[in-house]
Amino acid sequence: MTQTTPRIVVTRRLPEVVERRLVRDYGAVCNTRDQQFSAEDLREALRTADIVLCTLTDRLTREIVEASGRRAQLLANFGVGFDHIDLDAAQRVGLAVTNTPGALTEDTADLTLLLMLAAARRASEGEMELRGGRWTGWRPTHLLGRSLHGSTLGIVGLGRIGEAVARRAHFGFGMRVQHLARPDSRRSVPEYVTSVQSLSELLGSSDFVSLHCPSSAETYHLLNRETLSFMKPGSFLINTARGPIVDSVALAEALVEGRVAGAGLDVYEGEPTIHPSLLSAPNVTLLPHIGSATVGSRTAMGMIAADNIDAFVRGDALPNRLV
Ligand code: DGY
Repeated sequence: MTQTTPRIVVTRRLPEVVERRLVRDYGAVCNTRDQQFSAEDLREALRTADIVLCTLTDRLTREIVEASGRRAQLLANFGVGFDHIDLDAAQRVGLAVTNTPGALTEDTADLTLLLMLAAARRASEGEMELRGGRWTGWRPTHLLGRSLHGSTLGIVGLGRIGEAVARRAHFGFGMRVQHLARPDSRRSVPEYVTSVQSLSELLGSSDFVSLHCPSSAETYHLLNRETLSFMKPGSFLINTARGPIVDSVALAEALVEGRVAGAGLDVYEGEPTIHPSLLSAPNVTLLPHIGSATVGSRTAMGMIAADNIDAFVRGDALPNRLV
């Protein structure tokens, strides 16, 4: 950028240390009320700021990105996922977009294991029973679950987070790990992970299936009525990636009918609205999209977004450029 101090608009509250840095360096306008930006707020931000630090609650659609009178030249996204931004439109109009990969890998992997354990050991069911005053005491047949050790984990999307989950599952819990091979992937596969060639084979041979692929047109409802029926009887589905990868109505049906033994979900189609049949199914643990919600990850994500902004302002190559 050539001008003096760029005008920066931040769309959500960020960890204090990150906001302090952005205000100190740029006098950034922060969203102190933390109210989600509407379409009109986003249009206004793109019209009046040079840089918008946005995040996954901002629906940056084609219409918004292509709206006339845009001043913004950079969308510095807080977060690794970018399915809320129309990247093609951004590229067409010359709006640079960055994200914050790496910062949240380990914490999201931890949360994935938490959901695997919660689903397998029926933790939510147990807690609801106890809080509801229905626990009558210890008995040998009460709330029997499944073991992680010795079982097989199938990973869809062996990227950074998928691999961190694989490592924990294999070395921490003694699980066999397999993943869905992608013919176009150049990523090397750890020696303890087996490659499986088709989704149906992966689903049919895994006791736990964990999703770590991006959300895109290609992965929309990858888990649907048909593919859910390929899952091994008694198996569990975990989703810490993005809601639209799973058809929630089909999953709720499979859970209620017991075709899928249990699920652990941190992300939802149309969140924060949750499909009512998921809310009422006992065999699913539901978390409110907190995969990266630790002080460490959220601070690191903010600092990486700020680093991307600094690079942009200096005119340097963007460290985490998407387009
Ligand atoms: C991301 O970075 O996209 C995550 O979903 C935030 O937790």
